This record gives sequence, C-alpha cells and structure tokens, in this order.
Amino acid sequence: MSQPTIESILQEKRLFNPPPAFSQQATIKTLEEYEQLYQRAQADPQTFWAELAQKELHWFEKWHTVLDWQPPFAQWFVGGKLNISYNCLDRHLLTWRRNKAALIWEGEPGDSRTYTYAQLHREVCQFANGLKQLGVQKGDVVGIYMPMIPEAAIAMLACARIGAPHTVVFGGFSAEALRDRLNDGKAKLVITADGGWRKDAIVPLKAQVDNALANGAVPSIEQVLVVARTQQPIEMQPGRDHWWHDLRQGVSADCPAEPMDSEAMLFILYTSGSTGKPKGVVHTTGGYNLYTHMTMKWVFDIQDTDVYWCTADVGWITGHSYIVYGPLSNGATSLMYEGAPRASNPGCFWDVIEKYGVNTFYTAPTAIRAFIRMGEHLPKARDLSSLRLLGTVGEPINPEAWMWYYRVIGNEQCPIVDTWWQTETGGHMLTPLPGAIATKPGSATRPFPGIIADVVDLAGNTVPAGEGGYLVIKHPWPGMMRTVYGDPDRFRRSYWEHIPPIDGQAVYFAGDGARKDEDGYFWVMGRVDDVISVSGHRLGTMEIESALVSHAAVAEAAVVGRPDEVKGEDIVAFVTLEGNYTPSEELIKTLKQHVVNEIGALARPSEIRFSDALPKTRSGKIMRRLLRSLASGEEVSGDTSTLEDRSVLDKLREGS
Ligand code: PRX
Repeated sequence: MSQPTIESILQEKRLFNPPPAFSQQATIKTLEEYEQLYQRAQADPQTFWAELAQKELHWFEKWHTVLDWQPPFAQWFVGGKLNISYNCLDRHLLTWRRNKAALIWEGEPGDSRTYTYAQLHREVCQFANGLKQLGVQKGDVVGIYMPMIPEAAIAMLACARIGAPHTVVFGGFSAEALRDRLNDGKAKLVITADGGWRKDAIVPLKAQVDNALANGAVPSIEQVLVVARTQQPIEMQPGRDHWWHDLRQGVSADCPAEPMDSEAMLFILYTSGSTGKPKGVVHTTGGYNLYTHMTMKWVFDIQDTDVYWCTADVGWITGHSYIVYGPLSNGATSLMYEGAPRASNPGCFWDVIEKYGVNTFYTAPTAIRAFIRMGEHLPKARDLSSLRLLGTVGEPINPEAWMWYYRVIGNEQCPIVDTWWQTETGGHMLTPLPGAIATKPGSATRPFPGIIADVVDLAGNTVPAGEGGYLVIKHPWPGMMRTVYGDPDRFRRSYWEHIPPIDGQAVYFAGDGARKDEDGYFWVMGRVDDVISVSGHRLGTMEIESALVSHAAVAEAAVVGRPDEVKGEDIVAFVTLEGNYTPSEELIKTLKQHVVNEIGALARPSEIRFSDALPKTRSGKIMRRLLRSLASGEEVSGDTSTLEDRSVLDKLREGS
C-alpha cells in the first residue's frame, strides 16, 4: 500500500455510479440536477446564495447586500442579522424535532449521553448565562481546550449565542501551543476540563492550562471554567478557576440568542502555514452558517432519520463544521465519540456504528489505512448494515484504501464522498454529491455548486487536462475565511498573491497541487508548500524547525515529510548542533520530547539525523528537495548544481 502517486492515480479508471436506491431518496438525485444547480450558481452566484440563505436559515433582519467583494476581503449578507446557535437549536424547537436526538455521545470508558434538541438548547442557554456571569461579553474571545465531550459543543454554541467568538485549541496541543494561541486571540476566558479520555489514558487538560497560564503568561485571561469529566484531582486557583457544576447552580436557562451581524466574527481557528507561526483563520456568522448548512445537506444528503457520525475532533475545522454547526443547523442527529481505536478495543469504531445504527460515517484516510492494518476481521465481526454513506477528508486517499473502505465497510452499497476542503474554506469545496455524481477512487470529483475551481500554472493559465498545476478558486463563496486574525496583510500574501488575477478576478490559492482529468474530475495531489500532513494533521515544517532551534543544543534544523503508509507523512528532522554538543541517542530523545513540549505529540519527529551542515543553495536557502530524497532513502536526483557545498550531500548520504 502506498500514498497515491501521480502515475497510480492517472491510471485509475474505475467509475462507480451512485446506487439507484440511494439516488432515488437523495435530495440531489441526478447528474443533470447537479449540473443545473452548478450552472445556475455560476451564472449568478449572488442570487443562488441569496435564495438559499432566505430559504434555509432564520434571519432576525434581512441583509441589504448579498456580497461586498473588495478583493481579497469579502462580506456576505451585509446588514443581515442572525445567530447560528438560534439556527442550530431554537428554530428546531418549534417543530417536531424538539424531542429528536441532536447529540448522541459515547465516552471512551463506555458511558454515554443523548441530548434532544430541547435538552441541548437548555444546556447551551445555561452555559451561555454562566459565561455572562463570569463577565464574558459580546465580542470577547473565549478559548476552548476540551476533550470530546458534549460540553465542548455546548461551549461553542454558548459562545455563539452571546456573540463571543470562540477559539478552540485541539486537546492534543501542548501548553506552549495553547499559550501562543490564547495570546494571539487575546482570549478573556478559557473553558477546559479536568481531563479527557484518549486511548485508555487521561489527558491532563487542566494541568496544561495551568502551565500555559503560569506566571501571567497570558495576561488577557481572567477566568478559567472547568468541566468535570475524569474526576482525577486537579488544582483550582481561587478567584480564577470555576467548576461548571458549581457555577451552574442557580444559573437561569433563559438566554435569548443575541442578534449578530452577518459578518460578526464567529470563531478563530489556528492552522499551519508554510511560514511563521500558525495563522488565526477567521470565520464569520452568516456565510459560514449558510455554507456549512448547504454542504451538510447536499454532500451528506442528510435525512431526518439519519444517525450521522464524523470522527474528527472538535479542535479541527472538520469538527466545527461537521460535528457541530452543519449537522445541528440541519436538525440532524450528530454522534460524537470521545475515544479512538486503541489497544483495549481496536474495533471500537465498529462497535459504535453497530450500537447506534450509524447511517453516515465520515473519517480520514489515515484512519482507513490504520483499519486496513488492524484487519478485516474487526469490522466483519460487527453489523454495519445500517451504513448508507461514507465520507473521507483531510488528505488524498489512495485508491487501494478507497476500495477497501468501499468493499469492507460499505459492503459495496454505500457511495463514498471524498471531500476536499480546508480550515480556510469553512466547508466542502470539491466533493461528489452522492446521489448525483459517479465516483472514482482517489478523486474528490467535482466542485460544489457555487465553487469555481480550476487548476492553473503560476501565470494563472488553465493547464490542459491530465497535467499538474495549482488548485485555485476563482470566485468568493460564503464559507471562505475572511482574514488572518490581526494580520490582514498575511491573509493577502498567503492566499491571494501567488497567482495573478485571472480575467480581472482575484483568485484564491489553496496551496495544493492538483490535476483535472478529461471528465473534469479533480485529483488533489497534496501540498505544494512546506506544509506536511501527519495522520491528517496539518503542520508547518517551519513550526517544527522553530521548536527545535529553541533548544540550546540546536544550531540549525530542517524538517521534511517522508511518505508513510499509514500516517501519510512522517516527520524527519535534520539537525546541526551547537559546538559544545555531541550527537547521542539521549539527545535525540531530548529533542523529540522538546518538540512535544513546544507543539504537542502530533509534531514529534519520528527521526532526527545529526549533520555538520545542511545542504544549501548559494543564496543560503536550505534545499529541502534533497533532504526529502535523503529522508525517504531515494537516490538524490534532479539538479544539484545550485548546491553550495557538494560534500555536505555526500556526508549526509554516508550518515544515513
Ligand atoms: O492538502 C489538503 C488536505 O488538507 C489540507 C487542509 O488541511 P486542514 O485545513 O487541516 O483541513 C483538513 C480538513 C478539511 C488541504 O490543503 N486535504 C483535505 N481534504 C483532502 C485533502 N487532500 C486531498 N483530498 C482531500 N479530500
């Protein structure tokens, strides 16, 4: 098994038509229907989106301008007022969905909870009032550093309800990473838990928060709100730290949703880029609500009877858009699972599907490759016949993994939606609509209606079918990020200046390489910048390098990705040491742990190689291409004439 190579996917000719039984019941039933929608959206995007916004969402006040586009800054539904928590909760209470399951939660130790829409609404209102009691006001940024428990979703919705933008930090990030993000967002309060279960162990979240805040390192934080999950002892700082179960006593459950401007910031979510520290991607209320609502509705073909399960963590965009906001805005039943396949129960995902009769299952290629490793006997031992739709996200899926997913998990009955999108795009961009678009293993197929995607060269010319180029989006869409928090110039530089305007239109540069085939299907090849994907987690090589050089022993570091069968990519670091340090196994361990402390376990290098020097061009740029070849044990090929000192390469080769 391997990652998709250009050669392997270009040879991929298999085509899977939507099963007729699926199409018949689907919202979008035929290719013609998709094409009509697509063409209508292309011809007049503003009318297309405005009609949907009117029909699908509740607005306290209608907008006066559908789109205000001052490239690269877009505003959607300007003048409109709405609240995404109202759209996710209150409006369903007026219907039969009041007593429908909104959130089904299964904890790793086997405990579980179900919230109906009425119950979830009550919890969110009370939590929102609790936040107010702690002094949180409209516009204040709130940090959320939580395990996968219902309170994570409740906290997000409570923030949205009172107009306090949230910034969720994945629980796997270290105290250092948390501190940087809370500082960048100038968060006023952070919500956490005493701990969370992950792979049979407790993640000490509150202790990490204490580390992050130690010595006044995040001056903006005034309070910490702590949810009890694991009951192990933690320290509570009087005056700063509050237990949610104490605070909620006597807090009213009456909290009307605050009417928010369509363009009010809904959240900041940090993601890695090729340079500098992680970027705070800003999403706003109206456009994000509409875009996640529509993609949820059409891509997952969500039906009122469905139990839908997305295995992402709420700390990532997939969790935001497709565990919390998209499903709940549609009045769907969203399943949330705290755990991960682990030694004590490698088949736990299949248990969850069987237990709850899951109909739609959305996961990442890296997870699928791990399932393949664990063996078919695990899913085969469970009843998975409730499944009707499968999805993948996060990285290219190799055709072998796609076929296994289709055959073993879907029993050749379920369409697979391979959804290409990003933190920045808010929701799905390239994806099949499962009742309408035939799938090809490894291809994210066609653009969602309203998305004008293309593959171009650096001058902005469309490349011929079958040739590689850069994936771009040529028209603004409601779910697009609005800016980099606090750094609009970085927003412009990172996404809008790589490719010149095409026909006078600014184009969004996604940072991915892609091809389009003769049928107009897109094949996304992976990042073209210094961003790597480790188990579907996006990391900037420069972040890891910065973490390494912050250690006293390290003079210089270069980090590259090496293809890995399960994780997609593995982290390999080349390090030159300060004069008074010598290479040792002990130092390798220390440096790996240092990266874990600085960023989190997800960034731990699997290999560190010491070297006297790094291969550089005459202008001093590290030649990563060479390091990538060395890391993966390939012959160093291509042009090495710009290498300043050829002997460096020879030494690195000998050392490997
Ligand atoms: O390289 C693409 C890859 O993941 C990147 C976005 O990462 P992130 O912002 O963390 O969001 C992940 C979840 C939406 C993209 O630039 N990627 C995501 N989905 C796919 C993909 N690559 C190929 N196929 C996909 N379906």
